[in-house]
Amino acid sequence: MSSDFFDRTTLGRRTFIGGAGAVAAGAALTACGASDDAGEARPAAAAPTTTTPPGPDAKVVAAVADVPVGGGVMLESERLVVTQPTEGEFRAFIAICSHQGCNISGVEDDRIICPCHGSRFDLDGVPTEGPAKRPLKSRPVAARGSDLVVG
Ligand code: FES
Repeated sequence: MSSDFFDRTTLGRRTFIGGAGAVAAGAALTACGASDDAGEARPAAAAPTTTTPPGPDAKVVAAVADVPVGGGVMLESERLVVTQPTEGEFRAFIAICSHQGCNISGVEDDRIICPCHGSRFDLDGVPTEGPAKRPLKSRPVAARGSDLVVG
C-alpha cells in the first residue's frame, strides 16, 4: 500500500479511536479472498516492524496516552492498529490481515484480532494463531511529545 493510503490532514485524535468490532467485522466479510498464503512457514521470531522513523510529512494519529502499555488501539479512520508492547515502544500496522486481506477488527489484551478466520497477531504484528503466516505490514511510527505520528 502506498503512502497515498493516508490523507494528509490532521484529525482530532479522539475522533477516530473507538470500538472496532462491528464496523470492521462487516467490512472484513467483503475484504476476504484476496490471496492465500497456505504453505508459507510461520515466522518463529520475526521482527516485522519497521525501524524507519516517520518522515517530515508524518501525521498525528493518536496521543501517546491513548495507547495502553502491553496493548493497542484500532484507529478506524486511519485504518491502522497502533500498539505499545513495552512502555515507550510503539508499533503501527496497516489494519489488513496478512492471510486473505480482511480488515483487522481490533486489539484485545495483547492480541491483534482478525475476525475472518481467527488469526491473532502479537503486539509486534507477528501471527500467533490461525491461518495467517506472515506478519502485518508495519508503518513508521514515533512519539513526538505527547503525540504519536505515523508517516
Ligand atoms: S483473512 Fe483469514 S484470518 Fe484474517
